[in-house]
Amino acid sequence: MLRYAVLAPSNHNTQPWLFRVRGNQVELYADRSRSLSVTDPNDRQLLISCGCALFQLRLAMWHFGHLDQTVLLPVPGDNDLLARVSLGEEDPPTPQQEALFHAIPLRRTNRQLFREDPLRPDLKHELVKAATREEATLHFVDDREQRNKIADLIAEGDRQQWANCRFRLELAAWIHPNDCEARDGIPNSAQNSGDLLSVAGPIVIRTFDLGEGQAAKDRDIAAYSPGLVVLSTRTDEPWAWIATGQALARVLLRARADEVWASYLNQPIEVPALRPRVAEILGTTDLAQLILRLGYGPNVNPTPRRTVEEVMIPTV
Ligand SMILES: Cc1cc2nc3c(=O)[nH]c(=O)nc-3n(C[C@H](O)[C@H](O)[C@H](O)COP(=O)(O)O)c2cc1C
Repeated sequence: MLRYAVLAPSNHNTQPWLFRVRGNQVELYADRSRSLSVTDPNDRQLLISCGCALFQLRLAMWHFGHLDQTVLLPVPGDNDLLARVSLGEEDPPTPQQEALFHAIPLRRTNRQLFREDPLRPDLKHELVKAATREEATLHFVDDREQRNKIADLIAEGDRQQWANCRFRLELAAWIHPNDCEARDGIPNSAQNSGDLLSVAGPIVIRTFDLGEGQAAKDRDIAAYSPGLVVLSTRTDEPWAWIATGQALARVLLRARADEVWASYLNQPIEVPALRPRVAEILGTTDLAQLILRLGYGPNVNPTPRRTVEEVMIPTV
């Protein structure tokens, strides 16, 4: 089951999770040695990533014929133990759960250009429901004026992040040449082939402010991808971040089961001064957690993962 959990997405492919197995129980821990101090100083996205792994672990339990019993943050005051998941009663999986499970190895972050084909209206409805089931909200940004404003904000986020050399250093440290044997981080080939980053490589990323070019490209894909969505929660605390991660995994797998790809445009949420403006544009009092674009496009290669053995805490 953990083999499926570790296929979850994570920011910069840091895979910031650790697991301990005790009897029929799995404990999920945050591995804060893998924090991204510039883009994610409060470990918000780190916990979102762990929430994704948690959802995929629960989904694997359902696939192998068990209900799960999950308690989030089970020990008050212990902010690293994120969840305790016990194998529950036997129960065969539903066809919907099986569709999500089979999408686990097919899901990838896809930064290529998407075709113009619109998303099926009933799929949009199902994606909204998927997020709600994990206690987050998915907003489709379909209104043209709202879409343009969010796209402008994404471009502004790019400009502000790239102007910061600490941001560039952190990104470069997690982007690897294609022939690198690292089992974490993002291979250069996972970038969009038309993307500056794919030709640039870590040395150029470290050295030059590519913000203007990146902003123009991201503004375009945000404005014209078939779907642009914002995931949000009522509050902004560890519990809500884990919920966002579970909702993200459920949404991404539901999308993939329908052959829909996704990639992230979180820049304005990572710049504190811009983050509240995302919710303002949507007219919600929620806190924006992630921005994704959705659509159909060419397949891409999977990114590497550490083995289950590397992310297990031995039980003493
Ligand atoms: C919380 C979170 C935030 C992410 N933010 C970004 C982002 O801002 N830009 C981006 O290109 N990818 C982003 N990603 C995608 C990761 O880079 C990707 O999941 C990771 O490299 C593993 O690759 P995979 O999703 O193809 O398995 C994010 C993923 C997560 C879970």
